[in-house]
Amino acid sequence: MSLAECRLIDLPRITDPRGNLTFIEGRRHVSFDINRVYYLYDVPGGAERGGHAHKVSEEFLIAMSGSFDVILNDGMQKKRFHMNRSYFGLYVPAKIWRELENFSSGSVCMVLASDFYSEADYYRNYEEFLRVLNI
Ligand code: TYD
Repeated sequence: MSLAECRLIDLPRITDPRGNLTFIEGRRHVSFDINRVYYLYDVPGGAERGGHAHKVSEEFLIAMSGSFDVILNDGMQKKRFHMNRSYFGLYVPAKIWRELENFSSGSVCMVLASDFYSEADYYRNYEEFLRVLNI
């Protein structure tokens, strides 16, 4: 997979004086069926998350509250995305190394994933990741 396939998706927004609403439908706003949802919260200042790629699993990241940066890397190039709106999602295909940092206080990162959790689906070693990509 290349960085060109990683993209910010503008989600529907139902604005209302009572408060806004955004929704996400599997295979419509995200390209895959959603099989898992997880979220990062209570992230201490200066902490870094991620530091891995998935073999098969595709993911979609949303800043539900606050902000953080996602650095995506296809083994050739890196791109930084600043996530700070709950109506933007970042699509991350398989075989993209990701790092998350600069979490603001009270931020929440929600992730929609195409597959159930499996440790076997992770590349946690960057050199191994590059080897698999033949880089
Ligand atoms: P990890 O994916 O490394 O977290 P992050 O990318 O956000 O830094 O997961 C951290 C730990 O949580 C690891 O021991 C695996 C476990 N975990 C689950 O049990 N289920 C899940 O759905 C996820 C995402 C992680």
